[in-house]
Amino acid sequence: MSTWPEQVPTSGSIELPPDPRALDGLGRNHSLATALADIVDNSIDANASHVLIRFIRRTGRLHGLYVVDNGHGMGTSAIDTAMTVGGRRVYGANDLGRFGIGMKAASFSQARSLTVISKTSAAMAVGRRWELDGDRRGFHCDIVPTDFCADEFDRGWGIPDAGTGTVIRWDNITGFPLTDDPIRVEKFISQTVSETRNHLGLVFHRILEAGRVHVSMDVEDVDINVPGPRFDVEALNPFGYLRSSNSAYPKELVAVSSTGVKISFVCHLWPGRSKLPQFTLSGDPAERQGLYFYRNDRLLQAGGGWDGVHTPDKTLQLARVAIDINDDIVGLFRMNPEKSRVLVGPEFGALVEQARAEDASDFTQYFTDAEQAYRESRQRNRKRTPMFPPGKGFTPMLRGAIEGEVPILEREEPLNIKWRRFDDDSMFEVDKQARTLWLNQAYRPNSVGERRSVNDAPLLKALLYLLMENLFHGERTGPGDKDNIQLWQEILTAAARSGQ
Ligand SMILES: Nc1ncnc2c1ncn2[C@@H]1O[C@H](COP(=O)(O)OP(=O)(O)O)[C@@H](O)[C@H]1O
Ligand SMILES: [Mg+2]
Repeated sequence: MSTWPEQVPTSGSIELPPDPRALDGLGRNHSLATALADIVDNSIDANASHVLIRFIRRTGRLHGLYVVDNGHGMGTSAIDTAMTVGGRRVYGANDLGRFGIGMKAASFSQARSLTVISKTSAAMAVGRRWELDGDRRGFHCDIVPTDFCADEFDRGWGIPDAGTGTVIRWDNITGFPLTDDPIRVEKFISQTVSETRNHLGLVFHRILEAGRVHVSMDVEDVDINVPGPRFDVEALNPFGYLRSSNSAYPKELVAVSSTGVKISFVCHLWPGRSKLPQFTLSGDPAERQGLYFYRNDRLLQAGGGWDGVHTPDKTLQLARVAIDINDDIVGLFRMNPEKSRVLVGPEFGALVEQARAEDASDFTQYFTDAEQAYRESRQRNRKRTPMFPPGKGFTPMLRGAIEGEVPILEREEPLNIKWRRFDDDSMFEVDKQARTLWLNQAYRPNSVGERRSVNDAPLLKALLYLLMENLFHGERTGPGDKDNIQLWQEILTAAARSGQ
């Protein structure tokens, strides 16, 4: 047997640049929403106060998409690095960027053509374009003429003008419907806008809540040259409950890694059966239990499991844990290039086992508490008589709280509480037919002060709902109910009038 050569010899080298089609394979795991999140990451890193996502529709068909920001922009050398796959810059400690790939991977996962136009305070707008299907020699990037850049940059975007910023333009978008059928296009837009708002609201919830950036979306019909209504992305905090189902929570469990880095697990227990959108997260909340990883306040993973710490279980659906990975503990974790998942290292399991709260409790205790909270919320629910869903007149917050606490007759018409002018001075009227509790408009100023709106007086309406909801069941009003109505009418009218 011959000896094993430890070194491989070479006899020269040839240059083999990657085939341009390599761009095509980037970002295959992106959806439109995760791809847009990666583009918005860059706007946030550029300190933009506003980001606009705009769909372009021409003769009924969707043609392109813009992401526009008023951040610090890029000059010539920065834009060239930006268009380079793997082109990195010097990153600040709080930056969301990392691999120098995000923008390219996100764009080519959705579109065949990426144009970037950018302006700093020091220079005119500059532009570059990559086109996948173009007739290109190797990795030659197209230069966009400056007058076109200036026009695109100044295209009335309706965001505060900082004199600087970046316009990302996608053409030939692969996921857009090829039809101009208005019904199908409308349906696609409304579904896409709602998915994107939810996703961006979730991953950027901390940054949005802190007011660091505003993100909105609209559709421009270029035939008539007017943008449609604008939808703001609102923060969707997956820990945004009112009160935990267990007063000992949230609880911080802390562990120290072998390299001496502290890692903190903030364990939360949601109240049972919440209907709040930040709990359901457009799906089955049982699938959103588990670990929520943040890096520089940007959510990378929104639950979906326990990464080997525990198997997901229906009875653990109230349990969500927030973990901040800042760059000193980043070695224990890796994020996937789409920034939608965190892969934990081998030490992770041991850290979880070791983690303790101030009261010395651990993850085992947390799982026990989570299970108990879940069981209790189910019992409480079973014993209650089901109620009509709250309808018009309730704030979304109040509606969510009620629906989370009481079993709801989902198929029934909701119960509304509305104001109107009365002929007499009584406080309320029970209108079974319209399933509406009418309140006397004359008492509205006392009840709500200055802030009139359809959903005003939430405290009053909550009390009335709890007191009177059962009156609306059944065809007829029995003598007991009549007696109650009379009593409440007397007392509530007196109360309302004495406030006048
Ligand atoms: N909206 C923007 N404003 C300013 N600079 C940007 C913007 N988008 C991209 N860039 C520049 O392009 C670079 C490459 O972006 P990207 O491919 O997402 O990689 P990464 O964000 O990991 O650096 C960024 O580092 C940044 O310098
Ligand atoms: Mg990036």
